[in-house]
Amino acid sequence: MATAIITGANRGLGLEMAKQYSANGWHVIGTAREPEKATELQAIDNVKVLQLDAADDASVKSFAEQIADQPIDLFINNAGSFGPSEFDPDAWLDLFNVNVIGPVRLANALKENVAKSADKKMVVLSSQVGSIAENKTGGMMYYRTSKAAVNQAWNCLAQQWKDEGLTLAMMHPGWVQTDMGGENADLTPQESVEGMRSVIDRLTHEQSAKFYDYSGREIPW
Ligand SMILES: NC(=O)c1ccc[n+]([C@@H]2O[C@H](COP(=O)([O-])OP(=O)(O)OC[C@H]3O[C@@H](n4cnc5c(N)ncnc54)[C@H](OP(=O)(O)O)[C@@H]3O)[C@@H](O)[C@H]2O)c1
Repeated sequence: MATAIITGANRGLGLEMAKQYSANGWHVIGTAREPEKATELQAIDNVKVLQLDAADDASVKSFAEQIADQPIDLFINNAGSFGPSEFDPDAWLDLFNVNVIGPVRLANALKENVAKSADKKMVVLSSQVGSIAENKTGGMMYYRTSKAAVNQAWNCLAQQWKDEGLTLAMMHPGWVQTDMGGENADLTPQESVEGMRSVIDRLTHEQSAKFYDYSGREIPW
């Protein structure tokens, strides 16, 4: 049975990923900052719930110790935050800790687990608004910069680990009806995650370091 780690799996896209991957025969390790409150996640078959705050070194270390030497076929860094809506240096730095440093912290901690698996994939949930090429309107500067930065970080890791067989990709889920996306968004979590699963399933090693949306469209950086 293949194993996937999904961060921020207590709500939104992460919860839907945990539901769909487990329903499709995967063993899922779903993380939550407060596992005792993650009742919907705890109720899914084939899901093990572990505590994780991606912004906290000690929490990531303790999480990695619990994973020990298990092979991890797919690591999805889904956890993310939108950050401040006006200039607030401390909140901007906090956002970078969650959206940029968090994924790298976890990728480093889980690299050997992914390398020893069959699939060897690491996916980070980025956002189309992180694309510098597609930004013709401005706005959302704090969130945009965090997603542009994580794209470059993921590209660095993808290049660094290419010869070891790891495949790293960035995904835009579409505009989705979650707490972050709001109720007027285009897609349901079910539609977005069905699309992303299909793209992730088909990812080849040659596609490492690419940025795709849920429909498989490649997004320019
Ligand atoms: N929804 C959209 O339209 C959209 C569009 C583009 C990209 N995205 C990206 O897709 C991902 C999931 O988004 P979503 O819409 O599902 O968001 P969401 O509904 O706001 O859920 C965010 C998840 O991330 C977790 N999280 C936040 N900070 C964390 C931390 N420090 N450590 C661990 N977990 C943390 C939250 O946990 P708590 O419950 O503990 O807060 C929650 O589980 C994000 O990376 C987001 O940027 C979403």
